[in-house]
Amino acid sequence: MAVVDSYLRRNICREEGMEPLFQVPDLHERTQLWESISGYPIPVFIGDLVQWDFVSEVFRKFTPDTIIHYAEQPAAPYSMLNRRAATLTLHNNLMVTANVIFAVQEFCPDAHIVKIGTMGEYGTPNIDIEEGWIEIDHKGRKDKFIFPRQAGSLYHTTKIMDTDLLWFYVRVWGIRVTDLMQGPVYGLITDENEKNDQLFPFFNYDELFGTVINRFIVQAIAGYPLTVYGKGGQTRGYLDIRDTLQCVRLSVENPAEPGELRIFNQFVETFSVNDLAERVRKVADRLGLKVTIQSVENPRKEAEDHYYNPVHTGLLDLGLQPHYLTDDVLAQMIETVLLHKDKINKDIIFKGVKWK
Ligand SMILES: NC(=O)c1ccc[n+]([C@@H]2O[C@H](COP(=O)([O-])OP(=O)(O)OC[C@H]3O[C@@H](n4cnc5c(N)ncnc54)[C@H](O)[C@@H]3O)[C@@H](O)[C@H]2O)c1
Repeated sequence: MAVVDSYLRRNICREEGMEPLFQVPDLHERTQLWESISGYPIPVFIGDLVQWDFVSEVFRKFTPDTIIHYAEQPAAPYSMLNRRAATLTLHNNLMVTANVIFAVQEFCPDAHIVKIGTMGEYGTPNIDIEEGWIEIDHKGRKDKFIFPRQAGSLYHTTKIMDTDLLWFYVRVWGIRVTDLMQGPVYGLITDENEKNDQLFPFFNYDELFGTVINRFIVQAIAGYPLTVYGKGGQTRGYLDIRDTLQCVRLSVENPAEPGELRIFNQFVETFSVNDLAERVRKVADRLGLKVTIQSVENPRKEAEDHYYNPVHTGLLDLGLQPHYLTDDVLAQMIETVLLHKDKINKDIIFKGVKWK
């Protein structure tokens, strides 16, 4: 196994003044620490996967059987911040995906690409969301297509474009791809890092890079009203960080066939924003925190009250053992974040990035 990163995430957080709750050591330190715990060495390549010279150097030195492609600008609000952030998101995400495809074709045509997409590719249609594909019966003839997609941010739109690029090269070059339509991930602790907080993931709670559960927990601890956007009926599929690891492992262990684009909807439970705010308030109250919930004007352009029923059986069929967002899981997250209470910077919680 080897790992590649350009520190794009750290750099753009720093540029925008949106530091994570606690500092995370660099990849060299983290892989050394992991080797001392597990005995597994992980070579590290630091460089930009948008640059073909760097990509080809990596694939010459380390030719993989499987590529787990996480390397994208992953924040929807950042992608809507300004033209520069939009261009960076478009260029970075599409070029990394294209370069991974080109590298597979040139260096390891039988390798399996496991790509992290997003449930946000589908948007919130007024019909059930199928797992990637839909059969359409039109004027007496039938065919199978990728399920219609209509994203709510530029970031999510780049994920749709990634899927289209992958699908094109699956058809033309016969590469093997699994595209994981992942919902927002919550949690910090896994079996691998529970004894060592130096291996915790990046934990942002600001409006640009923070995800909703992380944000609500920090807001609850900071005595900041939980910021529900608009009516709060926005419903999405969520999963525990331990389950995202399981899903990726299951996809790697059960690869797609050559010439197959396999799509899984990767989440465990659906919640509305109001559900999440209430859950965090209830558990925080139990821990002695006084929490209020406040509806704020929605800076995004999205349905605040909608139908949402996505299929998600593929990963369960492969053996996913789901973890659920129980009160105990939320309490453990709150207790972990409480250890860093003095580092919370209230000024970065709300920024007001408008979609238009
Ligand atoms: N976290 C979530 O809730 C969530 C939900 C759905 C999908 N995803 C997707 O999962 C993946 C991982 O998300 P994350 O939350 O861990 O984000 P992250 O920012 O922590 O991980 C992405 C990593 O890729 C690196 N990277 C980006 N562009 C690169 C480039 N050009 N060259 C080399 N490295 C580059 C970044 O520096 C970062 O370390 C992303 O593709 C994201 O879109 C995440």
